[in-house]
Amino acid sequence: MTSTNDIRRSFLDYFEKAGHERVASAPLVPYNDPTLMFVNAGMVPFKNVFTGLETRDYRTATSSQKCVRAGGKHNDLDNVGYTARHHTFFEMLGNFSFGDYFKEQAITHAWTLLTKDWGLSPDRLTATVYHTDDEAFDLWKKISGLPEERIIRIPTKDNFWAMGSDGPCGPCSEIFYDHGDHIPGGPPGSPDEDGDRFVEIWNLVFMQFTQANDEIVGDLPKPSIDTGMGLERIAAVLQGVHDNYDIDLFKALIAASQELTGTRAEGEQAASHRVIADHLRSSSFLVADGVLPANEGRGYVLRRIMRRAMRHAHLLGAKDPLMHRLVPELVSEMGGAFPELVRAQPLIEQTLEQEEVRFRRTLANGLKLLDEAREGMAEGDKLPGETAFKLYDTYGFPYDLTEDALRREGLEVDREGFDAAMAKQKAAARAAWKGSGEQASDELWFDLAEEVGASEFTGYTADEGEGVVQAIVKDGVRVEVAGEGDEVVFVLNQTPFYGESGGQVGDAGKLSALSGFEAVVTDTSKPLGRLHALHATVSKGTVKVGDTLHQDVDADRRDRTRANHSATHLLHAALRNRLGDHVTQKGSLVAPDRLRFDFSHPNALTADEIAAIEADVNEEIRANESVGTRLMTPDDAVEAGALALFGEKYGDEVRVLSMGRSDGKRNYSVELCGGTHVRATGDIQVFKIIGESAVSSGVRRIEALTGAAAKAWLDDRNEKLKAAAASLKAAPDEVPARIAQLVENARKLERELAEAKKALAMGGGSAQAAAGPEEVGGKPFLGRVVEGLEPKELRPTIDQMKQQLGSGIAALVAINEGRASVAVGVTDDLTGDVSAVELVKAAVEALGGKGGGGRPDMAQGGGPDGDKADAALAAVRDALAKVSA
Ligand code: ALA
Repeated sequence: MTSTNDIRRSFLDYFEKAGHERVASAPLVPYNDPTLMFVNAGMVPFKNVFTGLETRDYRTATSSQKCVRAGGKHNDLDNVGYTARHHTFFEMLGNFSFGDYFKEQAITHAWTLLTKDWGLSPDRLTATVYHTDDEAFDLWKKISGLPEERIIRIPTKDNFWAMGSDGPCGPCSEIFYDHGDHIPGGPPGSPDEDGDRFVEIWNLVFMQFTQANDEIVGDLPKPSIDTGMGLERIAAVLQGVHDNYDIDLFKALIAASQELTGTRAEGEQAASHRVIADHLRSSSFLVADGVLPANEGRGYVLRRIMRRAMRHAHLLGAKDPLMHRLVPELVSEMGGAFPELVRAQPLIEQTLEQEEVRFRRTLANGLKLLDEAREGMAEGDKLPGETAFKLYDTYGFPYDLTEDALRREGLEVDREGFDAAMAKQKAAARAAWKGSGEQASDELWFDLAEEVGASEFTGYTADEGEGVVQAIVKDGVRVEVAGEGDEVVFVLNQTPFYGESGGQVGDAGKLSALSGFEAVVTDTSKPLGRLHALHATVSKGTVKVGDTLHQDVDADRRDRTRANHSATHLLHAALRNRLGDHVTQKGSLVAPDRLRFDFSHPNALTADEIAAIEADVNEEIRANESVGTRLMTPDDAVEAGALALFGEKYGDEVRVLSMGRSDGKRNYSVELCGGTHVRATGDIQVFKIIGESAVSSGVRRIEALTGAAAKAWLDDRNEKLKAAAASLKAAPDEVPARIAQLVENARKLERELAEAKKALAMGGGSAQAAAGPEEVGGKPFLGRVVEGLEPKELRPTIDQMKQQLGSGIAALVAINEGRASVAVGVTDDLTGDVSAVELVKAAVEALGGKGGGGRPDMAQGGGPDGDKADAALAAVRDALAKVSA
C-alpha cells in the first residue's frame, strides 16, 4: 500500500521533475489576507503572484499546503465526524503556473500523473468543464481520449472557482473518481450527483480574471494555473478505500484514540473517534502556527474545535484529558513532512492539556443542564436560545458544540434566541461599565468595540501583514475618509502593531495601500484594552473605511523593545533570587532604547549586588533557551509559579511567559505578560545596568540597556578609558593601578607640603624665623607671615609657637588663595595683661575684615586682602606696644 506520506512525496516529486519549484506549506494564518480566517486552499499564499502584485524567481510551483476550513466562509466543522470526506484540517496538493503554461499543459500533467505514474484506470475517471469552455472540452478529448459523455459541461459556480469575494478566479475543470457501482450516486451534473459514488479528486482552475465583491473586474496579467487535490481523498483512492478516515494516517490516529479510551470506532462511537482524529490535526497545526485558544477571533475558532473534540472524548468515557496524549502519534505520522509540528510539540501538548483540564471543570455540569433541557423535547424541536446561551456563558460550551450535542437526536438550537440573550448580556455590560471618566472618547471607543469587536493582534508572530480599516477617528470623531496631512487614528480588524500596555510602549511603523496611500504610525494605544488604535499621519493619498492596508511595524524598533522586555523579566527574577521574595514590581517601562524597572526594596543595592544581578541575567542570556508561551487561567498560572502582580486585573485567560533555564520544576522566570518577547534569550545579546536609584521610600529603580544600546554604552566607556589612558601615557589596563598610584602620591605630597608649611611657620630655616622672638612692649613676641598654610593649621601652630616662647605672644598670618587668616596666642602667664582677642581684632581690621574672636589666650580671624598680611602683623605689634605702655 502506498502511504499518505509517499503520495505527498510522489506528487511533489512529479512536478519538481517537471520544472516546478517545490514550495513549503505557508502557515495556516494568512497574515497577508485580512479577508480570510485561515488558509483554505493551496493557492492562497500565491494570491498576489497571480495578480502580478508580487513576483517570485520561479514561474511554476508545487506545494502541499495546510488548509483549515472552520469558521469564516468555508466552514466544514459541523459535518466533521459524520461524513466520509469532511475535515477541518486537510492538505491540498497543487501545481501552479504564474503566466507560464495554461490549460493544455495543466490537463496533460494531471492526466499523466493520475493514469501513468499512479496507474489509475481511465475508466474510473470523469472530467467536468465550465459549460462555455469549449477549449477545455476539446483538450480533454484530445489528451485523455475520454469519451464525450465523460467530459461533462457544468453551468454552475461549481466550475467557476474563486478564492473569495476578492481575488483571482477563473473557470475550472474537475476530475472525478468513480468508486464503483456498489456505492449509490451518479456522475456530476446528474440528478444523483450528491451520492458518494463519484468523488471529486482534483480541481484544475484556469485562472484568468480578478474579482472584487464577487464581480469580475479585470483580467489577470497572464493566464495562469491553480490546481488543488485533497491529499486525504487521493490517498483513499490510491489505498483502495472509499472513506478518507480509512486511510493509513487516520487509521493510526484512530488506533491511538481507541487504545487510550479502550473503546472501538464502531457504531455511535465511530463519529467521536473521527472527530477526535480530525480535530487533533487542526488544533495541533493551528497551535504550531501561532494560534492559541481565546475568546475571540481565530483563537475562538481553535477553542471551538478543541472543545468539540473534548466533548467527544468525554462521550467515549475518557476519565482524564485525552487530546494531548494523542499528539505523539500525530507527530510520528506527520512530523516528517511538517517540522513545525515537531518543534511545537511541547507547546501543543501543554495547550491541549490546559484547555481540556479547564473545560472538564464545567463540562459535566453543562451536559447535565443539557440533558435536563432535552427531556421532553422531540425530534425537530429547538433548544431555547437562553439555555444555549447559559451553556455558552457559564459552562464554556461554544454554540456549535451544543448543536453537535443535539444532532444525534435530530434536535436543533434556537439561534435567534441565543443571539438575543447574547445581545442582552452585552447591553448589561455596557450599562455597568464606568470607563475612564473621559465621557466622549470613552463612548466612542466603547461603541466601536461593540461594533467591530476586539482587534486581532497578529504581532506575536509577525511584524507585517494586511488589515481592513474598520474605523478612522479624527479629532475624537469618527470619519469615513482620511487624506494627506491628516492626523488620525486607525482601527483595523487585525494588526501586528502592539498597543501600549504592561509597560511596553506602543509600536510605530508604516501603513500603505496599492492606491499609493501612505501613512506614518507614530504610536499605538489600546483603548479599553481591546482595540488597537494606530496613531498616524497620512503622508500620501487617501484611505477610507473598508480599505485594505499593508501594515509594517518598524521591525528594528520592535526587536529592540522585545529584547528589553524579555530582559526585564530576567532582571525581575534575578532581583528576587538575590534580594528575596519581598521584591515585587512597582512599575516598568519597556522602550526600544532602554528599560526601567521599579521594585520594592528597602536599601540601595551595593555594587556587589548589582554586579551579581547583572551577571545572573547575562548567564541566562548566554544559555539561549527558547522562550515559552502558554495560555492559562490566572489561578492556574499562579499555581504554575507565575509572578502575578498583586491587585492587577486579568481577564479569564492570561499569557504565561517562561524564560531562562529550568531547574526541572520551573523556568528561571515565569510571568504573566501580554507583551512581545524574544524567541530565545540569546536574542537579548547583553544586559547592562547603568543606574540604580531611589524612587520613593522603599522603592528602588534600575535602569538598564540591552543589545546594541548596551554595546554602544560600553563602547563609550571604553573610549573614555582610552582617553584617560592617553593622558596618563599608560595602557588602558594599567589605568586603575596608575590612578591609585597617583592618588597615593598626591596624598603623600599633600602631607609633605603641610608639614613643610608648618615647619616654615615654626621658623624652619627662613630668615624671618632665624630672627627669633623680638621684644614688643617689653614682652617676647613671635610674629610670622606664611603662605599656603591651611586655616585649620593655625591653631596647632600657634600652640607650638607658645610652647617655644615659654612666655610671650605669638601671631601668625597665613595667606591662602588671596585671603588671609590670622591667629594670636598669649601664654597663660600674660593673659592678665594682654588679650589675644584685642590683638586679633587689630589684625583683622588691617586685613579689611570684620570681627575676629576667641579667648584671651587664643583668638582667630581673617580678612579678604591677603596682600595686607605684613600690615596685619604690624598692627598686632602696634596694639601690643599700646597695651603694654
Ligand atoms: N483553488 C482550487 C480549489 O481550492 C484549486 O479547489
